[in-house]
Amino acid sequence: MAKTKSTSTKTIKNQSQSMQYVSDVPELLTRIQARNITIGVVGLGYVGLPLAVEFAMKGIQTIGIDIDDRKITALRNGENYIQDIRSENVAQCVAEKTLTATNDFSVCEQCDVIFICVPTPFTPNKEPDISHIVHATEEVAKSLRAGHIVILKSTTFPGTTTKYVQPLLEKNGLKAGKDYFLSFSPERIDPGNKVWHTGNTPIVVGGVSKDCTTLSVAINEIIIEKVIPVTTPEVAEMEKLLENIFRSVNIALVNELAQLCDRIGVNIWEVVEAASTKPFGFMPFFPGPGIGGHCILIDPYYLSWMAREFDFVTNFITLAAEVNESMPFYVRSMIEREVARQPVTLEKAKILLLGMAFKRDVDDLRHSPALKVAELLFEDGIKNVSYYDPYIPETDIHGRIVKSEKRLTPQVLEKYDVVVITTDHSSFDYDMIVKHSNVVIDTRNACKNVKGAKKKVRLLGEGKR
Ligand SMILES: NC(=O)c1ccc[n+]([C@@H]2O[C@H](COP(=O)([O-])OP(=O)(O)OC[C@H]3O[C@@H](n4cnc5c(N)ncnc54)[C@H](O)[C@@H]3O)[C@@H](O)[C@H]2O)c1
Repeated sequence: MAKTKSTSTKTIKNQSQSMQYVSDVPELLTRIQARNITIGVVGLGYVGLPLAVEFAMKGIQTIGIDIDDRKITALRNGENYIQDIRSENVAQCVAEKTLTATNDFSVCEQCDVIFICVPTPFTPNKEPDISHIVHATEEVAKSLRAGHIVILKSTTFPGTTTKYVQPLLEKNGLKAGKDYFLSFSPERIDPGNKVWHTGNTPIVVGGVSKDCTTLSVAINEIIIEKVIPVTTPEVAEMEKLLENIFRSVNIALVNELAQLCDRIGVNIWEVVEAASTKPFGFMPFFPGPGIGGHCILIDPYYLSWMAREFDFVTNFITLAAEVNESMPFYVRSMIEREVARQPVTLEKAKILLLGMAFKRDVDDLRHSPALKVAELLFEDGIKNVSYYDPYIPETDIHGRIVKSEKRLTPQVLEKYDVVVITTDHSSFDYDMIVKHSNVVIDTRNACKNVKGAKKKVRLLGEGKR
């Protein structure tokens, strides 16, 4: 890495521990390259814990900080609670003391680098809620000192780093790019993805100054093969939103076309497969019961909220959200139409949803479309709505605690009037599901290779009314 000119070579003494902390960039780079640093990770969830474990597995002293005491206790006992991480890695880092966990933010002072990986949800009115970022930043600010490198990773609207985080950090007079170093570097982790993981997924970094970017790139290069610098935090914030909005808009397009295909008698799945034979200029997206998780559903709203301040209406984002959020309602109507064909009333119908998680092979239930489908069925007076999901033992649906069926067996399937594939987990035995179900509504094209599926399976977007 090229050496950069330091903006500040002053040494600031820390009063309490009389240690010397420097904001000299070449010296900090030397320490980073020698891995003579302590990493702090604030927020130990789906993003923060894998990040902390990556650094700790490289033998770097890493301190995780979270407000959730259950997570701290679990980690102190060497227990993993994130599906994507190998439990033996967590146990090893904790045993070797390269990973420690605490709810005490004062440890930030000992850290050279502080990543902020807290949630960015929306309010009930779907406006950004950056209160977790604000709280975490205020806590970090209490220990901010010369030479600190702060990297925000939570997905958020452009300007959060410079207009919200930076002023909070600078209340005590330190300046970004001079005394301490601030950047935004969005997360790209894709839980459940067997090919792309933290190490081989390139990431983007945008610092408040050139030195901020250089230092943040150097830190990230310890665990990531390719790190791409951009000129400002705003570019990095916006590019993350573009990635997620790109997905939201394209999924909405196929979801809309799936509904049209059902009316005009064309199979959308065959259409997408045929279009995918074009070797350039096309990328396949597939319809489904809606979108969920903590990213694709929420993040577009961050930008459309921000755009309003600039008298700008983000039409694509709003339209995509409208279509995607209508999909659980469309699935409900498919289910109720199927019930109407059975010798059972809506009230007495027994419905089994297969897969509650928001996507295949993960245990993440946040904003899951399957949950929404279940809620809508309950609302319509269908009392007997159950589910099976090997990753979600129980869940709260509309104020009722519902337990997953323990196992998926022929006897279980035979109990239900309609079986709905809401999430296509790869552990499901689709042959058995089709063979032993009365009728299957498939919202994911999961039964495409099952012999004899045509008779029993109603596929979303298959073009049959
Ligand atoms: N989950 C993903 O796949 C993914 C992918 C890319 C980006 N992101 C983004 O990363 C951010 C974090 O997402 P996540 O999925 O890891 O969330 P998460 O809910 O799994 O984890 C967040 C953690 O932060 C903790 N926390 C909340 N407020 C805190 C505070 N003030 N101080 C300390 N800890 C606090 C919570 O207890 C929790 O453990 C979000 O902005 C999200 O949009 C997530």
